[in-house]
Amino acid sequence: MTTKFKALLSALAFLMLPAIASASGGPEVKFVGVTADRTDIASLQRGARLFVNHCLNCHGAQYMRYNRLLDLQLTEDQIKQNLMFASDKLGDTMKSALNPKDAKEWFGAAPPDLSVMARSYTAAAVSGSSEAPAAVLAAYLRGFYQDDSRETGWNNLVSPNIGMPHVLNELSGTNKLVETVYVADGKELKTDHDAEGKAKAAFIASQTMSAFEHHVDKKDGKIENKYIVRTLVNTTPGSMTPVQFDIAIADLVNFMEYVAEPNKAKRIQIGIIMMFLLAFFLGAAIWLKKEFWKDVH
Ligand code: HEC
Repeated sequence: MTTKFKALLSALAFLMLPAIASASGGPEVKFVGVTADRTDIASLQRGARLFVNHCLNCHGAQYMRYNRLLDLQLTEDQIKQNLMFASDKLGDTMKSALNPKDAKEWFGAAPPDLSVMARSYTAAAVSGSSEAPAAVLAAYLRGFYQDDSRETGWNNLVSPNIGMPHVLNELSGTNKLVETVYVADGKELKTDHDAEGKAKAAFIASQTMSAFEHHVDKKDGKIENKYIVRTLVNTTPGSMTPVQFDIAIADLVNFMEYVAEPNKAKRIQIGIIMMFLLAFFLGAAIWLKKEFWKDVH
């Protein structure tokens, strides 16, 4: 690689971090946190454990069978003892422990099936985002905050007013929402432009999950532009540090992506082998051409 190309690549990488999802009209959400490597078996195993222990209480994954976990280098015994409810057989699909009717009554909505969630997830708050579904899913799982006005006691930055409680609260600790509204006041923030600039700067500088929203209000018949920045601030620590929790979510989403498409790693592998094969044939063809033309010249 030339240095110029390298410089270009690193500039691109810099531009993409942190990724900010821009929504058409809705808020922009800042995605923080790491992602895990698809081929990292230990990460997938940790993700599987989190998934089975914390998600299957309410959700099912009807296209996922327990014996798929054998591909993650887990033995039958390990799966049966650590990852399965006693009544399930290894060939069974991952069913929810919860009756959908009860769920609807308790949470106001039935928990959706999670089989392909990592490939299909879109959140209302970031619709139109160019982020991959898995990234938005990770942001959703990191986006819970305490909200006493909600029946569950929780709300979510990425999926506002969602019926799901923060089930990983013990691990993450508790976040609370800090909302700052920037409005032109004729003094420090003379114009809407100033207010927007200040809000944007605060949004970009934020180190935690945050959202930026432009809100238009009518006040005394006049239009008022509000620029709102919402950030999450940790108030009670969990059993994990924020960095550990970040990695846990990366593992969980990694596993959910794997569940959504277990053969992806294999497909990529085959693709790479094919590229090498094609390169080899190209080399052979060039060599042959040279050999043939040697006698002509
Ligand atoms: C206590 C029950 C419960 C548990 C445990 C639970 N969920 Fe949920 N989840 C729900 C309910 C209820 C909804 C639907 C809420 C709604 O539509 O308002 C939901 C919705 C979702 C959604 C869709 C969100 C959206 O924006 O529409 C995702 C993704 C999700 N859950 C992932 C998970 C994952 C991953 C876990 C494990 C870490 C998990 N859930 C654990 C109850 C639960």
